[in-house]
Amino acid sequence: MKKYLLLAVVTAFFVCFYACTHKAGLVVTINKNDTTGSGNNNNNNNNGKDTTKEVFDTSVCFQRDVLPIFTGSCAISGCHDAITKKKGYDLSSYNGIISKGLVKGNSAGSKVYTVCVKGSMPQYPTPKLDSTQLSLIKRWIDKGAPNDTNCAVNCDTTKFTYSKAIVPILKSYCLSCHATAPASSSGGGIVLDNYNAVIIQVNNGKLMGDLQHQTGFHAMPLGGNQLSDCKITQFKKWIAIGALNN
Ligand code: HEC
Repeated sequence: MKKYLLLAVVTAFFVCFYACTHKAGLVVTINKNDTTGSGNNNNNNNNGKDTTKEVFDTSVCFQRDVLPIFTGSCAISGCHDAITKKKGYDLSSYNGIISKGLVKGNSAGSKVYTVCVKGSMPQYPTPKLDSTQLSLIKRWIDKGAPNDTNCAVNCDTTKFTYSKAIVPILKSYCLSCHATAPASSSGGGIVLDNYNAVIIQVNNGKLMGDLQHQTGFHAMPLGGNQLSDCKITQFKKWIAIGALNN
């Protein structure tokens, strides 16, 4: 009887041991697929394997979410733009961003990310990155820092209130230069971090002219891609109903 008990215990041990090691092996395989897939610089490349989908973070897309943070907060004239390249960092384009201080798949080992977490970059008066921006950069690096371009539109034209639509866009794309502190040095003296200041740029027509990159205006965001049609539509609709502080 004792013999059977011992056998049962030993069997249970081996079953458990196998299950655990097997599982651990699987996790490693999935991670490997993740970096391999993203190394192809293709957001949709899952190598036909369903397993990659589980860990491949499609909620962050380079052109839509990450590039605007770098162009807005780092690739500023006199800092890490293509001309100044301070300390050898050109953070104005994908190729520049991945060429120095970035280890694909390893945000903790990527200086471009860790200095922002520590808060030593961006330097005053450019505002520090907030937790949302830091999380986007981290997730993008950890999934292999792919140059994903065909980003799904993350925007809803039926929402166009000041608080729900306009403020988040200004925060993501404009305040690195147009918050009060950096405005005089990197924002041409234009402040966009409060309603009354924004309204001045609405009423003089410059905000929409700049956003639509019309001739005779200053194309904004400076040095970045034009906002998506959807976001520009949100601005148009908000202004059409009177640019309320809603
Ligand atoms: C990298 C810094 C930077 C970012 C990001 C940026 N701007 Fe600007 N902006 C400037 C500078 C510098 C000026 C001064 C104009 C000039 O001399 O080119 C300016 C000027 C403006 C003006 C006044 C333009 C005029 O014709 O006098 C408006 C309005 C404006 N920006 C809106 C925006 C909006 C809206 C965004 C975000 C979608 C944005 N900016 C993002 C740097 C920036």
